[in-house]
Amino acid sequence: CGIVGYIGPKQAQNILLEGLRKLEYRGYDSAGLAVYQNGKLDVQKTKGPLKALEQRLSHHPLSGELGIGHTRWATHGKPSDENSHPHVDQSQEFSVVHNGIIENYIELKEKLQAKGYPFTSETDTEVIAHLLADLWDGDLVSTVRKAVKQMEGAYALAIASVKEPDKLVAVRLASPLIVGVGEGENFIASDIPAILEHTRNVYVLEDGEMAVITRDGVSLFTTDGAPVNREQMRVTWDAVTAEKAGYDHFMLKEIFEQPKAIRDTLAGRIKDGVVDLAQDISFTEEDLKGIDKIHFVACGTAYHAGLMGKSVVEKLVRIPVEVDVASEYRYRDPIITPSTLVVVVSQSGETADTLAALREAKKAGAKVLGITNVVGSSVSREADQVLMTWAGPEIAVASTKAYTSQLIAIYLFSLHLARVRGSLDAAELKAYTTALLNLPEQAQTILEEADAIRPFAEGIAKHDNLFFIGRGLDYAVVMEGSLKLKEISYIHSEAYAAGELKHGTLALIEDDIPVIALATQKAVFEKMVSNIIEVKARGAHVLGIGLQGDTELGKSVDETLTIPETLPLLTPVLAVIPLQLLSYYASVARGLNVDKPRNLAKSVTVE
Ligand code: G6P
Repeated sequence: CGIVGYIGPKQAQNILLEGLRKLEYRGYDSAGLAVYQNGKLDVQKTKGPLKALEQRLSHHPLSGELGIGHTRWATHGKPSDENSHPHVDQSQEFSVVHNGIIENYIELKEKLQAKGYPFTSETDTEVIAHLLADLWDGDLVSTVRKAVKQMEGAYALAIASVKEPDKLVAVRLASPLIVGVGEGENFIASDIPAILEHTRNVYVLEDGEMAVITRDGVSLFTTDGAPVNREQMRVTWDAVTAEKAGYDHFMLKEIFEQPKAIRDTLAGRIKDGVVDLAQDISFTEEDLKGIDKIHFVACGTAYHAGLMGKSVVEKLVRIPVEVDVASEYRYRDPIITPSTLVVVVSQSGETADTLAALREAKKAGAKVLGITNVVGSSVSREADQVLMTWAGPEIAVASTKAYTSQLIAIYLFSLHLARVRGSLDAAELKAYTTALLNLPEQAQTILEEADAIRPFAEGIAKHDNLFFIGRGLDYAVVMEGSLKLKEISYIHSEAYAAGELKHGTLALIEDDIPVIALATQKAVFEKMVSNIIEVKARGAHVLGIGLQGDTELGKSVDETLTIPETLPLLTPVLAVIPLQLLSYYASVARGLNVDKPRNLAKSVTVE
């Protein structure tokens, strides 16, 4: 989502709208403004693109010199007028725009409802407006501070109130927020492009900080009230770079957003070492116990997430799983019964083949679980139950953070099933949930070493053919690695189950051909090394990707990269990151259009 705020001598409406327009690249499903005028906060908001809001404002313009605005990427609650931001309390005294998730919103909502506060939306954000009204103590900053103390989660907020119409308040906890400093006017924004036209001087808020913004000044505090001294930052980016938060491409930005996407997808779903999806899906225990087979159905990268899902579900839950490419599934007359669970995986939730398969499965009486990244998408509406990935908008055609978030959603669902069906004991569940919660930090350490993969990527950029090999889960991961490379670097590559090479493909291995060998699965490590030796003996140049602390792999490959160790089943989340970087740097080295590869579309809505 995008946040903007303005206070100054000019008309707020146009500045806010302009700011929202600059955030349009993030993709959104609704937008709104709240502007203070004549002792009131007037709100205009609507579902749909920014154009819809502009149209509404042309009939009902807002005039005033202080306001907040928002473009929404739906999380809690479908895209609708009511769910659009800003949200206000009953007497329209407090208005708030919000990015992120308030994890304990249901608990807060119930408390406020019990006190008689009426709710008009399904969002977690509306809670904040009522909470401010409830906690009002005569001082806006102190009231916000009290409210923040009660809110758990990750959020960025901009707040305006008729009680103190000479200021805006901004709060940040684990969701980006900046304050733009102008002359006699100041700004709030979730992203730099929104304000670049007006100022290049900004304060970047850190977690647990708030800003109090008037026309003439900005003061920063911690949410506990301690003053913060921060140097202003001077933004030197041009507008195009600013859209990508300083990264050269959306794909690189999205690769680097993976620790956050993983964290957000896990957020609120693990309690005391146990996966709890009660807020997400309402299959009954009986439903879940009655499932006798699972089909994963998807396209492209999401299909690769399904392949990994097969290993995970079969291992943890011992239910037989089939994985199908959606365009094949419908035509092969699959055996679907009412005790089949069909899991449809789709970032966009709009892929035509995937939707057709979903409908086919429903018609045949299966239960359908949708895993998607877009609230309000066709998959989210048509599946019986939905488990969202919280990766945020993905702009680059080649999917990265959506894939790792899909893996996380699949782990969560598998562990949920395993608990209900008793296939794992409490200690095993705890071990998995603990390891899951460590993944964001481990992913971060890989990203910090991203440059290490660059020289190898530049080397392969000179080739037209190469191979990826792996065994077990590593095989599913290299299939995704190979797809990524093909999509954006146009280098032909094949992913092979390492043990299968000698049954044909070995004939294609010749001097200097690059082979990327993923060897993170200890159970098949020795076998993997034998396969590496097979390709080395035919002259291949091998990059081995293994686990930190492994001293063996390096002996049989030409170059080595390592990733941190987690439980073997969770390793794909980390193992795919170097492969994403590899294809990214190879594409850059070839001078290609990384974010928009030829012939491909982000969302394919034809069959
Ligand atoms: C397109 C994209 C792929 C994506 C696939 C499935 O082909 O280019 O990156 O994996 O569609 O998309 P979905 O939105 O259903 O996950």
